[in-house]
Amino acid sequence: MKYKININKTQNSRLGQLDFDNIPFGRTFSDHMFVADYINGEWTNAAIVPFGPIQMNPTNVTLHYGQAVFEGMKAMKNKNGTPVFYRPEDHARRINFSAERLCMPTIPEDLFLEGLHMLVNLDQDWIPQKEGSSLYIRPFMYATEECLGVKISDTYKFIIITGPAGPYYAHPVKLLAETEYVRAAVGGVGAAKAAGNYAGSLLPAKKAKEQGYDQILWMDAKEFKYVQEVGTMNVFFVIDNVVITPELNGAILAGVTRNSVITLLKQKGYTVVEKALDIAEVVAAHKNGTLTEIFGTGTAAVVTNVTELKYGDTVMKLPPIETHKIAALAKSEITKIRAGEIPDTNNWMVPVRSTVSV
Ligand SMILES: Cc1ncc(COP(=O)(O)O)c(C=O)c1O
Repeated sequence: MKYKININKTQNSRLGQLDFDNIPFGRTFSDHMFVADYINGEWTNAAIVPFGPIQMNPTNVTLHYGQAVFEGMKAMKNKNGTPVFYRPEDHARRINFSAERLCMPTIPEDLFLEGLHMLVNLDQDWIPQKEGSSLYIRPFMYATEECLGVKISDTYKFIIITGPAGPYYAHPVKLLAETEYVRAAVGGVGAAKAAGNYAGSLLPAKKAKEQGYDQILWMDAKEFKYVQEVGTMNVFFVIDNVVITPELNGAILAGVTRNSVITLLKQKGYTVVEKALDIAEVVAAHKNGTLTEIFGTGTAAVVTNVTELKYGDTVMKLPPIETHKIAALAKSEITKIRAGEIPDTNNWMVPVRSTVSV
């Protein structure tokens, strides 16, 4: 590895204060973080340091123009207690795809992965053991130039933070198909995991909640006709026993879980179709009784069942959750692969390297 990663260990571990039986998601962070700077056209100052605040000048361009991208991924302990990552290379590649769209430098994959392994190896005692628990990992990069001109920043910071996450029970959700606001348009930044995408979704999500819906089914930006994603998940429909998910059209995030579910269901013999899915097809299938499941996929919950979808004046109630066999199969396969209970034939699990001297 051409990058030297310095390690500055904390003198005050907070691990003793953690109640492993009660972990609020996204609010508890492990002792250390990985940091690196992009200066003069290269990555430098790579280090593992105690988790803590970052200093920022008020003129930092990220605060004004939002040149920021991130990832969300997981490590867990398998049934033998070995810490393992789930598909880390895919996340390394996706942050670089996002970075390129926002005109940011890419992070060399070996730097991303080495930082990740060293950090999680050092903080492995933060990974909860309980089945379904994990260590949530948040790599992110933002511009650091101090200037109020709208420009491509010359400098950036890349950080990885991690935090324990308890077993996540995904409550089934009611969806509202959005016909006023859009998440992303083809040609925009929807396929990137750009911070601003999430800011733009807050108001429509709040309005949907006020109407009694948990999440939004995002529609295409041109005609409000084709289905895109659900909340911050990819979406799947089961119609006539065929699994259908919107094709990646430049406005949809290429979810790692989406890819896992497509791969696993195909391997199980299901027909999985990626296509532009017209909401009229969903409405018609509901009418004739062939729409049997809708579910969302994402790193946080793996699979989330849908109980109801409202589109315009049409309220589509799905059959009882117990009958959503394909969603259940996808979830249990991924959970078992992570736990090491069934063979990982797709090589998605990567043991955390312990060879680094920490
Ligand atoms: C907008 C959006 N779509 C889909 C996903 C699901 O992607 P993944 O399965 O990689 O977590 C996420 C979460 O990362 C997301 O933020």
